[in-house]
Amino acid sequence: MHPFLNIATEAARKAGALLERYYQRLDQLTVEEKGPNDFVSEADRRAEAIIVDTIHKYYPDHSIIAEEGHGERTDAEVEWIIDPLDGTTNFLHGFPHFAVSIAVREKGRLTHGVIYDPLRDELFAASKGEGARLNNVRIRVSERKKLEHALLATGIPYREFDYVDSYMQSLRYFMMNTAGIRRPGSAALDLAYTACGRVDGYWEFNLRPWDIAAGAIIVREAGGIVTDFAGGDNYLNSGNILAANPYLIREMARVIARTIPEEYRK
Ligand code: IPD
Ligand code: CA
Ligand code: CA
Ligand code: CA
Repeated sequence: MHPFLNIATEAARKAGALLERYYQRLDQLTVEEKGPNDFVSEADRRAEAIIVDTIHKYYPDHSIIAEEGHGERTDAEVEWIIDPLDGTTNFLHGFPHFAVSIAVREKGRLTHGVIYDPLRDELFAASKGEGARLNNVRIRVSERKKLEHALLATGIPYREFDYVDSYMQSLRYFMMNTAGIRRPGSAALDLAYTACGRVDGYWEFNLRPWDIAAGAIIVREAGGIVTDFAGGDNYLNSGNILAANPYLIREMARVIARTIPEEYRK
């Protein structure tokens, strides 16, 4: 295993164990509101500190891009993109679905990704060219070929609403033309579940790099396709992401192109 993947795994497991302990005593948790409907807790912050410390122990100079602001972005060729707790709203409400997400990007290309769900003890991992694994067993995207049979995951806007009408158009189409839609509440796990075929595809607007970096490489290494809403690979910057097995990606992209105005299609 590549040392970066090893370190990402070590960090994700440590952070996951910490999150699990906080999850057992949610009533004592300190929570702050960063903005409307945007919360951060002591659990998010401490989990992030553990991850950054773990990385720094081995590589003090690497660049860090982390949601809650630990570490520093430098001009190093290796960047770690970290979401210490993806699914904070679920976590704070005691809804048992959240994860730690850690990705490595080298010279601008995603090379490693780890997503860890501590409650289920499920570790999704991938390195470029090495395939994707769930708890060390190889995983692949589903082989479902028809949209009408597909189960899709999505994220419903809850904080910024300027693109809500476009989102509703896409949701309406998929709602009426698939086997069902899920809104599990963790973008990282939505991608991990796409990678192992629990869902056949996933789309969401307006995410941040730490929500999707690890998931994107895991889906790709599991044989899936990840694009932005224009069919390109600008999803880490635009935050608009579409992921699916290779059979469904074109039809899903056509739906996005039909229902979402050009200004959001990047
Ligand atoms: C959120 C989750 C959620 C998505 C949100 C994200 P956070 O991340 O990934 O599924 O719909 O847009 O912000 O804030 O819980 O790390
Ligand atoms: Ca957050
Ligand atoms: Ca997140
Ligand atoms: Ca987070």
